[in-house]
Amino acid sequence: MQEGGYYNSKKTDDICQDVCGPASRAALSMSRLRCILRGFDHKALLLLFVGLPLFIFGIYLHGQKITYFLRPLWESPPKPFNIIPHYYHENVSMENLCKLHGWGIRDTPRRVFDAVLFSNEVDILEIRWNELHPFVSEFVLLESNSTFTGQVKPLFFAQNREKFKFVESRLTYGVVGGRFVKGENPFVEESYQRVALDQLIRIAGINEDDLLIMSDVDEIPSGHTINLLRWCDDIPHKLHLELRNYLYSFQFYLDNRSWRASVHRYKPGKTRYAHFRQTDDLLADSGWHCSFCFRRISEFVFKMKAYSHVDRVRFSYYLKPSRIQDVICRGADLFDMLPEEYTFQEIIAKMGPIPSSYSAVHLPGHLLQNVDKYMYLLPGNCLRESG
Ligand SMILES: *[C@@H]1O[C@H](CO)[C@@H](O)[C@H](O)[C@H]1NC(C)=O
Ligand SMILES: *[C@@H]1O[C@H](CO)[C@@H](O)[C@H](O)[C@H]1NC(C)=O
Ligand SMILES: *[C@@H]1O[C@H](CO)[C@@H](O)[C@H](O)[C@H]1NC(C)=O
Repeated sequence: MQEGGYYNSKKTDDICQDVCGPASRAALSMSRLRCILRGFDHKALLLLFVGLPLFIFGIYLHGQKITYFLRPLWESPPKPFNIIPHYYHENVSMENLCKLHGWGIRDTPRRVFDAVLFSNEVDILEIRWNELHPFVSEFVLLESNSTFTGQVKPLFFAQNREKFKFVESRLTYGVVGGRFVKGENPFVEESYQRVALDQLIRIAGINEDDLLIMSDVDEIPSGHTINLLRWCDDIPHKLHLELRNYLYSFQFYLDNRSWRASVHRYKPGKTRYAHFRQTDDLLADSGWHCSFCFRRISEFVFKMKAYSHVDRVRFSYYLKPSRIQDVICRGADLFDMLPEEYTFQEIIAKMGPIPSSYSAVHLPGHLLQNVDKYMYLLPGNCLRESG
């Protein structure tokens, strides 16, 4: 501290220079002390008027990061899942596949209903329905003219409906008008739309013990998984699916953090469409989660403003197209957030950009059969169309 003060005063203070400078080395120790104290005062003032505001500004910028980093102190990890091993090979018979999972086989498959709330994910919906259509009896899709955040939204599905002719005969499509309540928590509109979807599923004719897939459009179960579940007896009544996480449209990234998709054996009057944890059972490696897998930067901006986590857009520059493009290519987080983990070890391990993966081995079939169309979703292609 003393050395620092001395050095500081020498450099910055003309009056001190007279006392402390080389010319006055022999001056009284009393005045040296005064000089050092003066230097210290300057440092303290500097700290007060520059350091403190900078510190407060830093908290303003990174407050969310600080609370996320401290998550292990204020939140304990959720109860671990009971992970069910998942077996599949194209040349193993269904009877043997069911047996490997400890289940019997049925004489006929169950009917399968795939129900989604649609926003603007046209490409991903095409990949999803192509993946599932050999196994699904009825597709149920609901869209609204309101985003979860209460902004007017075009009916994107209606505009693109001709792309989905291949499911038309098995499609129950519904539109629900938005409520457009100003300043409301987006989760209220979201749950309002989920209740409407619940009604649409019944209109579509679901019956006891039919399978119902509850997931967002971008949470795509593997076709073979759904085939297994419709053919096997004695499967759990509710089952979460562990999804490979193709996080924020970067290159294919294998992760198992995503589990919100679930499959239910429908019980009239009991089963409700929901998107939270509903059971402890989790079937390993059952599909893909491709969040923010968009072709155009404008679609990223739309979703960032439209979905329930709009509070994560803390600064308007987060929506700047050049920043979004840069973030995608760096493999960083669109909202500049820390990983949601429950131990310091895991937070630190998962900080920083997502390492790119060069594997495109287990991608959805429709994607690999149409690589020219979906080039932007393949490894090594981080550039998105502007506008
Ligand atoms: C699956 O079985 C068919 C017919 O038995 C055979 O032609 C094919 O090569 C097998 N595929 C694999 C991947 O083993
Ligand atoms: C939204 O849709 C509902 C029902 O179709 C309609 O009554 C309402 O006028 C629409 N609102 C806007 C802003 O387009
Ligand atoms: C993900 O996999 C790791 C290692 O395979 C396992 O320890 C962890 O429990 C899994 N996470 C979930 C959510 O299943």
